[in-house]
Order: sequence, then C-alpha cells, then structure tokens
Amino acid sequence: MMNAAPSLLNLSGLSAMERKLCLKVNRSSGESMKRALSKASIFDNSRRIASTGQNLLLPILVEPPISLQAELADIGLFEVLDSDLPKPRPSRPTLRRLLDGEVPLGLISLIPKSFDVLGDLVLLEPVSDSLLPYINSIGNALLKLNKSAHTVLLKTGKVDGIFRVPSYTFVAGVDKRKTTSTEYGVRLNIDVSKVYYSPRLGCERNRVASLVGDGETVVDMFAGVGPFSILIARRRMAKVYSIDINPDAVALLRENISMNKLRGEVVPILGNAAAVSNTIAGVADRVIMNLPKSSLDFFDAALRVLKSSGGIVHLYVFSGGDPVQGAAKLLEHRAKPPGVSCTVERTKVVKEVAPHEYMVALDLKIAKN
Ligand SMILES: C[S@@+](CC[C@H](N)C(=O)[O-])C[C@H]1O[C@@H](n2cnc3c(N)ncnc32)[C@H](O)[C@@H]1O
Repeated sequence: MMNAAPSLLNLSGLSAMERKLCLKVNRSSGESMKRALSKASIFDNSRRIASTGQNLLLPILVEPPISLQAELADIGLFEVLDSDLPKPRPSRPTLRRLLDGEVPLGLISLIPKSFDVLGDLVLLEPVSDSLLPYINSIGNALLKLNKSAHTVLLKTGKVDGIFRVPSYTFVAGVDKRKTTSTEYGVRLNIDVSKVYYSPRLGCERNRVASLVGDGETVVDMFAGVGPFSILIARRRMAKVYSIDINPDAVALLRENISMNKLRGEVVPILGNAAAVSNTIAGVADRVIMNLPKSSLDFFDAALRVLKSSGGIVHLYVFSGGDPVQGAAKLLEHRAKPPGVSCTVERTKVVKEVAPHEYMVALDLKIAKN
C-alpha cells in the first residue's frame, strides 16, 4: 500500500547510496515522477528502473527532501524503499573515457563520438588536426572498444574520382584494407582502398530490395561490389544486370556473387553504364542509379534499358537547402526527355553528406508514350 508521505525504512546508519534507495510509484505516473526526480538531481542514472506489476521502482540517490515530497505527492502516490533493485547498470567504457589522461583535456571534446565498423575494420571520419598527434592512442582505444575489430583506418580525403573511392591512412592494429562485411544476410568482400562502399546505405538498399518482385529484371547501373544487386537476387527470383566501370569493384562483385546463395541471378558487367545501356536496351522493369554526384547525366541511359512499357527508376542525387524540393527541381530541369512521363512516387532523404547537403532518393514511375 503506497502512502502520499514516504515511509523511510531501515535507517541503519548506512548512507543513502549504500542503502540503494528507490521510489515505488504507479506505472502511470512514472514518467512525471522521473522528470521531477531528475529536475531535483536525485534520480540515480547509474541504476536501472525496475518494474513490479503495476509499479515502477525509480532509483534515487537520496531521500527526497520535504519540499520535493509535496511536489511528488501532487503527481501521485509514492513510497521510498530500501531495495536491492534496480541492479547497477554495467558501465560501458566510452571512447572518450578510455582516452582520459592520454589526450589533453581541452581536446577530449574533439574526439569523434561515432565511427563506422565494416567487417573487422573501424573507419574514422577525418579528425581535427590538433588530434593527429594522439591518433594512435585513439586507434588503440577503438580496438579495445570493438573486440572483433583488427584494424583502424582514418579517412584522409573525400570520396573522389570516377570510382568514388575515399582515401584512408592506417592508424592501429593490422595494416590491411580488405574485409568481409555482412549486410541483411549478404556477405560482401570489400577493399576500402579500391572500391566505394558505405555501410550507412544498408537501410536504403533493404528498402529498394523489398520493392522488387519475383520475375523482375533489374539494372543496377553503378553496382560497386554488388550490395543492391546481391540482396535483390538473394531474396527474389530476379535477374540483375550489375554494371560498374571500376575493374576492382567488378572483381569483388564476382567474388561476392559466388559467396552468397542466390535465388535469382546477378550478371556482372565491367563497363561504362552509358555504353552498356545500348547492349541491354529494353530489358528492365527497374533501374537503380546510385551515383548521386552525376546520376542525372545517365538518365537517358536508364530510360534506354527500361522496357518499352516503362518501369521504376530509383534515382539518387545530392541536394542542398530543402532536400526534397531541391531534388524535385533538379529532376524537373535536368531530365525532361520527350515522349516519356515521369511521376515521383516517393522522395526520401537517405543521409546528410555535409552541412545542409543531403543524399536524396527519388522513386520514379516512368511511362514511355
Ligand atoms: C556511389 S558508388 C555506389 C556503389 C554501390 N551501388 C553501393 O551501394 O555501394 C558508385 C559506383 O559507380 C561506379 N561508376 C562511376 N561511373 C560509372 C559509369 N559511368 N558506369 C558504370 N559505373 C560507374 C563507381 O565505380 C562506383 O563503384
């Protein structure tokens, strides 16, 4: 039975922390109670909230002072309990905490909070110059945090050139660039020094793959090592023509095709998508154009490979300002082929690539008149 006034149990000379106090409250008032405790700085973040039937046990650092008790009573019934529950939360080390003492205090806030993990590689985005003298310590701390990682690489240049490959420098662990990553059940061999691949597009690739039906023919115009193509052919009885101009990407694509069990078929093609479109004209129900920097330059080629009845084009562009409106305008100005009607079925911001610059996906329904 809960009282509006707290029952203070077992005042056995232990401090509040040793007594592991908690506030028993009704589940319905839990959120407001927690807010009031946090505002009064007595909610104990180091322990978990536990539940017992209709009640919650909110961990607190000290008994609520009289002034707070009145406020809590306005919210609902509560009871202060000595309890072993909730158990202490295991404290996970953070990169910044691991580097405490190794990196000067004034630079700690510059240490990146996030990084990509690709197979057994940890990939760091470029860091501030003032952190470079400490980059080995940062790398070693990242290896401690990511037990299955063997290598830490630092991105030193932008994604660049026709092959869209970023440059990396070795930081810690085993000096290598090739790894095997798994994405939605697809295993992919990737060499980050030779090909483009971003683990951040996994969700988008899954979205597109889920739209493909059995029996479809798909052209993946800028296929890289095949993450779109292989996911589609793994799930569906679909035929996917996978084109890339980078010989290293196509070599890895071939490895990846044989590494995965496919229901459909992936046909790897080394070449310029514009030229290849002439040899596979009119075959596709669906085209994937993941080359956001210049996809619109290849729009004619995409229309060429679509069936005479038309189909779907997944177009990716970079767009600033209002990304959705910007992408629609780009399409309007750059891709107005005669004899073709083009309806935007869906626009989606895939990711921010720079401040106020976005990668946007447009799903286009194309009808050829
Ligand atoms: C942004 S990457 C996308 C790779 C892959 N779709 C993915 O999701 O990881 C673009 C790819 O297009 C390839 N590429 C660039 N220009 C090309 C062209 N004209 N024809 C065919 N592939 C091209 C690059 O080599 C690169 O692998």
